[in-house]
Amino acid sequence: MAANILMFCQGTPVASLTVRQLDDKLKKLLRLRAARHGRSMEDEVRTILKAAAEDTSRDILEGFEPRAQSAQQRSPAAEAGGPRILLIIGGGIAAYKSLDLIRRLQDRGTNLRCVLTQAAQHFVTPLAVGALAGERAYTDLFDPQSEFDVGHIRLARDADLIVVAPATADLIAKMAGGHADDLATAVLLATDKPVLIAPAMNPQMWAAKATQRNLAQLAADGIHRVGPNAGAMAERGEAGLGRMAEPLEIVVAVEALLQSAGALSGRRVLVTSGPTSEPIDPVRFIANRSSGKQGHAIAAAAAAAGADVVLVSGPVAVPDPAGVTVVKVETARQMLDAVDKALPVDIAIFAAAVADWRAAEPSAIKIKKQNGRTPTLKLIENPDILSTIAHRKYGRPRLVIGFAAETDHVIANAKIKLAKKGCDWILANDVSPATGIMGGDSNTIHLITPTAVESWPPQSKDDVARTLIERIAAELEGDKR
Ligand code: C5P
Repeated sequence: MAANILMFCQGTPVASLTVRQLDDKLKKLLRLRAARHGRSMEDEVRTILKAAAEDTSRDILEGFEPRAQSAQQRSPAAEAGGPRILLIIGGGIAAYKSLDLIRRLQDRGTNLRCVLTQAAQHFVTPLAVGALAGERAYTDLFDPQSEFDVGHIRLARDADLIVVAPATADLIAKMAGGHADDLATAVLLATDKPVLIAPAMNPQMWAAKATQRNLAQLAADGIHRVGPNAGAMAERGEAGLGRMAEPLEIVVAVEALLQSAGALSGRRVLVTSGPTSEPIDPVRFIANRSSGKQGHAIAAAAAAAGADVVLVSGPVAVPDPAGVTVVKVETARQMLDAVDKALPVDIAIFAAAVADWRAAEPSAIKIKKQNGRTPTLKLIENPDILSTIAHRKYGRPRLVIGFAAETDHVIANAKIKLAKKGCDWILANDVSPATGIMGGDSNTIHLITPTAVESWPPQSKDDVARTLIERIAAELEGDKR
C-alpha cells in the first residue's frame, strides 16, 4: 500500500500520507469499506476525501463507523459472503414488522442494506433500521454522499434479491407505472435482480380495482409476491385481506427465491400454455376453458431460475411473462410446429389444453343457417404434441412433463396417461367444476413419476410453478451425481 494520498485545501496540497501510516483500527475500517465497494483502499480514501471536500459540514467517516461496529454482531455466514438483500421499507404501519424481518434475515446470514421511503420514516427511523442492519439506512435519491458513495444504481445491482416490505398500495402503483421519483422507486426501476413484495394495506385498498390491476402488472413483470394475509387491521374494528405476511413467512419466500435463482441457468426450457382454437369457419371455433395461468406461471418461474425459456401459447388473456420468448399460436398444428422449431431443449413442459379435435373441413366462408337444418360437423383428431415429443428417438428432451386435467379417478387416470404418452412426469389435477381450478388462481397437484406419486398441498399456481421448477432442478442435479 505505497500510494501517496495528497490532501488539498482550495487547490493547494496541504498534506501527504500513505495508507500504511493510518492506525490499525482505521486501516481495518477502510479495508472493510473498500472491500464492500469493490475498490482499492487508495480509491476508497480518494472517494472519502472527495465527498468530504464537497460537503465539509458532514462527518464523512460516520458512514462506515456503524457498519464496522456491527461487523462483530453479524453472523459468520454474512461475513463469509452470504446472500445480499436490499430491503425497501414502505410507509405503512406494518413497517414495524420490518425491524423483526431485518433480525430474522440476519440470523440466516444475509448481508442487508435498507432503503426507507419518505413515508416509511413516519413509522420507523433510519437510525433504528441502520442500527439493526449494521449499515446506515438509505433514504434520499439526491443525497450527494450516498449517491457518490453507493448510488441508486449500485444499490439496485449490488444485491441478489430486493425485498419490498411493506409494499404499500402507493409503492405498488409506482412500481407498476415505472415511476422513479425517489430512492426506493429509482432502485426498483434500475434493478435487474429478482424482486419480492410483501403487500400491506387496508382490505378496501387491496380490493380496489386499481390495486388489482397494478398487481397483475407486477406479476406480468416477473415480480414475486408473498401475502398478504387475512386478519385484523391496525384500524380498530377493521379486518380482511391486507395484513403483511409475517416476517418468518417472508424469510421462507426469500429463501425459496434465493434457492431457485440460477437453479436452471444454462438450461433451455420449453413450455406450452393456454388453449388451442380450432376454426369451424371464419367466425366460429372449437376451444376450451384453459386460462393459461398455470403454463405462464411455469414459464415465469423457469425464467426466474435462470433458464432460457420459450413459451408457446394459444390465445389467452394473461400477459406475457417477463424474460421469456413467447410464440403465439392458435391451432394444435401450429403449436406442434412452434414446439418443433423450439427444439432442442433440456426440459419440455406441456401445460397447454390442446383441443383434441378440429373441424375436418373448416369453411372458408361463414356457415349460414339452413331453414332449420343443423349442419353436421365432421371432426378429426389433432396431433398429440406431448406424445409426439415424448416418443422421439432423437433429440428427445431430458425431461418431458405433461399435465392431466381429470374430473374423476385423478391419480389412476394420470398413471395410465403417463404410460400412454411416454412422458417422464405427469402433473395431475382435479378440474371438476367444484374445485375452481379451471381459470382460478390455485391448484392441487399430484406429481406422478414412473415410480412414485407425490401429492402437493393446495397452493397458488405461482407456487405450483416454483415447486415444479425446484423439483426439476433437483432432478437434474441428480444427473451430475
Ligand atoms: O390427453 P390429455 O389432453 O388429457 O393430455 C393432457 C396432456 O397432454 C397435457 O400435458 C397436454 O398439454 C398434452 N396434450 C398435447 N397435445 C394434445 C393433447 C394433449 O400436447 N393434442
